[in-house]
Amino acid sequence: MSMRKIKQLVNSSEISEGAGVTVFRSIGTSSLRNLDPFLMLDHMGSNNPDEYLAGFPEHPHRGFITLTYMLEGHMEHRDSMGNKGQLRSGGAQWMKAASGVIHSEMPKQAEGLMSGFQLWINLPASEKMTSPEYQEFSPEAIPEVKIEGHKIRVISGTYLDANNAATTGPIVDDTTSLHYFDVSLESNQRFHHNLDGSLTGFIYVIKGETQIDNQTIASHQFAALTDGESLEVKAMANGAHFIFVAGKSINEPIVQHGPFVMNTREEIDQAIADYQNGTLVQERAQFTSA
Ligand code: CO
Repeated sequence: MSMRKIKQLVNSSEISEGAGVTVFRSIGTSSLRNLDPFLMLDHMGSNNPDEYLAGFPEHPHRGFITLTYMLEGHMEHRDSMGNKGQLRSGGAQWMKAASGVIHSEMPKQAEGLMSGFQLWINLPASEKMTSPEYQEFSPEAIPEVKIEGHKIRVISGTYLDANNAATTGPIVDDTTSLHYFDVSLESNQRFHHNLDGSLTGFIYVIKGETQIDNQTIASHQFAALTDGESLEVKAMANGAHFIFVAGKSINEPIVQHGPFVMNTREEIDQAIADYQNGTLVQERAQFTSA
């Protein structure tokens, strides 16, 4: 069985997003424009309200999926179709913007830690202009596997423990066979996972230090992985907290203009025109939540 190694190590860049929220961006920077099917990864993590209170006021999306996973804090999501949802510590929201969503994500706390991820997942041409959909899950709806020295929250995909007991996350992203795990390891523990060797995979370290194949990945660092059926991530002496994500490549041209990601320049021009004349949001969204 071939082991995954580090293909590219990326130091996340601290940037200001939304109305002035500090985020650490890895995918979607000049070091790593995209990692098919992933278009962007932002890690928001701050104790300082000045770095998150401005939030993400109303803005559009077309042509892809946003997946928000909160580690700590409380945000309220609203869209122009009248949908409203709460994103709390440990909860997740998969939003297939597809043909168009206009939404906002605003903090519902005035102090304390706000931490979480937003991952953008591309859609194939055949799905880009379909109806928006949501899958929204409270912290309690995300299964947690606790084995000695390990805690694995399974947001999407199936995790098999050493006894082959399966735990499957509630978010289903069929197009990419998405895997999304939040992994905490105590000192010197190792996380093992076997998966389809051709899925594009990465880890992002939130806290502590890890090693893959004796190469170190520090806090706020991102590692794109080689293909391979097997992954082993080792925590260093102080333990580690990271996410592991994998998904199937789409292999289509990517033309991005800010929050619009399509296949051609003409489709981008259409998205901009639709947004300007108020016809970006064409359909009501379907909802799955728990
Ligand atoms: Co958004």
